[in-house]
Amino acid sequence: MIDTDAIHKTAAVIKAGGLVAFPTETVYGLGADALNANAVASIFAMKERPSFDPLIVHVADPEMIQQFSFSEDNRVQLLIRHFWPGPLTLVLPRKSIIPDIVTSGLDTVGLRMPANDIALRLIAAAGTPIAAPSANKFGRISPTRAEHVRKQLPELQHILDGGSTNLGIESTVVAFDEEGFIILRPGIITATDLRKFLPQSSKSLQNPAEKAAPGMMQSHYSPEKRLYILGENKIPEDCSAAALLAVSEFTKGNFKHIEFLSRNGTKEEVAVNLFGALHRMEEAAVDFIVAEPVEETGIGIAIMDRLRKAAWRHQNKL
Ligand code: TXA
Ligand code: MG
Repeated sequence: MIDTDAIHKTAAVIKAGGLVAFPTETVYGLGADALNANAVASIFAMKERPSFDPLIVHVADPEMIQQFSFSEDNRVQLLIRHFWPGPLTLVLPRKSIIPDIVTSGLDTVGLRMPANDIALRLIAAAGTPIAAPSANKFGRISPTRAEHVRKQLPELQHILDGGSTNLGIESTVVAFDEEGFIILRPGIITATDLRKFLPQSSKSLQNPAEKAAPGMMQSHYSPEKRLYILGENKIPEDCSAAALLAVSEFTKGNFKHIEFLSRNGTKEEVAVNLFGALHRMEEAAVDFIVAEPVEETGIGIAIMDRLRKAAWRHQNKL
């Protein structure tokens, strides 16, 4: 348990323009004062993130977003009521108080209230919204434990260790237009979940490729080793030095190591374990990684999005 003293010390680092890593319910974030352009610049520098990829601004209370965005849209209010705090980022027209560097110069800002007590206490104690991408080097595996942050960002001084995150993959990023909502990044909250609460008239464009978010690269979440997806990529014949990320107990094959992402077959469990398993296999004595796919429905859409992006770099020989 993180005590109030630790929260206040870390909040003081944010207020002074420093960087801190903190847990959310999805992945660990690398945070800075969202209203301090210099502090935000140091996030981009530490992550080696290109400046065209905007950051999510985290708030501790839905009321806070009125200062930063135009959020009167009824659809926005409905989603906030049902899904916040939670893994849903809303892309809204921004107010000029948000520095350009946070949004990569876009006229919108991504806002989210995380469902994690440490994150909420930190934001409240800092008294300012916190801009935070996932706390990994750009394009690499997202962190679901404090040790993953330490591995990729060893120079970072301040990490609030809240143990393993409880959802395991990043928030759903949603934008709006006159016709409906658009999922820019799939996550645990699915289009079906959102449609339950939006007015009947709203139309949804579900395919994230139709209107890609500026930061939606084909390659992302990459382990240092080659990653293959069973049934999608051509797998080397000899897997005796490879690891298998399995989603069912019945998987067969001659692998050096089998890591179960799920024993009960739920996609929630696969999501929680995915990045941690990739981090472990990156360090294990195996030559490459093979992952079993999950059915692409519900949160399976987000899981397959992450897996394909993680495999992309090596499949394309980069
Ligand atoms: O679960 C999460 O969302 C985690 C935790 C730390 O909150 N954060 C996270 O941040 O995943 P990051 O930077 O790794 O991914 C944010 C994504 C990027 O792909 C970015 O392009 C998109 O959100 N995004 C942010 N602001 C946007 C905007 N104004 N318009 C479109 N896309 C935006
Ligand atoms: Mg990220």
